[in-house]
Amino acid sequence: MSRLTIVGAQWGDEGKGKMTDYLAQNSDVVVRYQGGNNAGHTITFNGQKYALQSIPSGIFSPKIKNVMANGMVINPKAALGELEKLHSMGITYYQLFISDRASVIMPYHLALDGAYESLKGGNMIGTTKKGIGPAYADKYNRIGIRMGDLLNPDYFAERLKDALAVKNMELKMLGLDTFDFESLYEEYLGYGRTLKSYICDTALMLNEEVKKDSKILFEGAQGVMLCIEHGTYPFVTSSSPATVSVPLGTGIPPKYIDRSLGVCKAYNTRVGAGAFPTELESDLAHYIRERGREYGTVTGRPRRVGYLDTVALAHACRISGIDTLAVMLFDVLSGIKELKICTHYVLDGKKIDYIPSTISDYERCEPVYVDMPVWNEEITTCKSYDKLPENAKKYLKKIEELVGTPIEYVSVGPDRVQTIEVKK
Ligand code: IMP
Repeated sequence: MSRLTIVGAQWGDEGKGKMTDYLAQNSDVVVRYQGGNNAGHTITFNGQKYALQSIPSGIFSPKIKNVMANGMVINPKAALGELEKLHSMGITYYQLFISDRASVIMPYHLALDGAYESLKGGNMIGTTKKGIGPAYADKYNRIGIRMGDLLNPDYFAERLKDALAVKNMELKMLGLDTFDFESLYEEYLGYGRTLKSYICDTALMLNEEVKKDSKILFEGAQGVMLCIEHGTYPFVTSSSPATVSVPLGTGIPPKYIDRSLGVCKAYNTRVGAGAFPTELESDLAHYIRERGREYGTVTGRPRRVGYLDTVALAHACRISGIDTLAVMLFDVLSGIKELKICTHYVLDGKKIDYIPSTISDYERCEPVYVDMPVWNEEITTCKSYDKLPENAKKYLKKIEELVGTPIEYVSVGPDRVQTIEVKK
């Protein structure tokens, strides 16, 4: 089992960064295959907290090759900022490879992200305003700039002129400032020069790693419920975090992707707008939010909080072919007054156990719960499954029973050492 995908099995922020970091210890390569700096992967070790946005989570180990693959959208200015921050925290030796085919997030994408959101008024998605959607739209509209273009001054000039002809027109129509070719051209050629040593054909490199039977971790960003195809459209991100997008986003054929680990919280959270059937607004939400430090890594927004929804979790497992689960932030539930798990929904009087395709139907879904016994013991120092309180074990067993997927890891705190391997 050399090639493992780590995929968010909820609406993002599940703790994938911690699991990637934990499993990266035994990996040769860590690959981000989609998304951009809308992600926020928080990693804590040696008492220090690191927040990564577009840089892969293997960056802390000098022996790991970190790949930002072709499926990503990359803001070079922001990526350089992340690297500078890592340097200032003492992380100075690392291996980084950036795909020459990855799309570049340009400043006009950020301007348009904000403008589209304002135009939607009450129906705004609540994007991270990092330009993700407009950058992916340009990629599919074939007016995107790619990282490799920044290394070739003549070719980049041509691509940028083509893009600006369309984008400036659009910006003007929206009453926004247009962009000057010369200054954008110079600025982005500069980023190309600075990042040159990292930019390469990562699909070639990754297929060589496959031949060598290297251990490769594919690090998903966001979660399956935010997938452009299978999520709660239109309240989704503009890429697919599901395992199915690994081959396209990296250039490695599907037959070489061995296994999928789904990462979920012991409860549910969501940032941004969109239906969230198990959302809580009571003291219970406050309890979970404060104990789980549920504030966005990228935007600082308080996350919406709810009981665990196994309909959504089973959907993610199905779509993404998840083999086993890692249940994160389990310690947060210690001491909670009332604990429930959503087993299915009722839509217009009918019991359903799937995600409807339209938001108008999804908004009408009423969650149906099973009550679970609570536990008061703190479990942050628990080192093995056997040492967990009986009621905590019952909770984990219920998840396995309802979702039909075994739990492999349980996280009881932010540090690497606070990770229980269930089989052990
Ligand atoms: P975008 O990806 O910035 O276009 O935002 C689209 C939706 O995805 C919004 O609801 C965001 O809050 C959400 N989103 C994007 N990235 C993340 C993430 O890393 N964690 C959680 N939600 C995210």
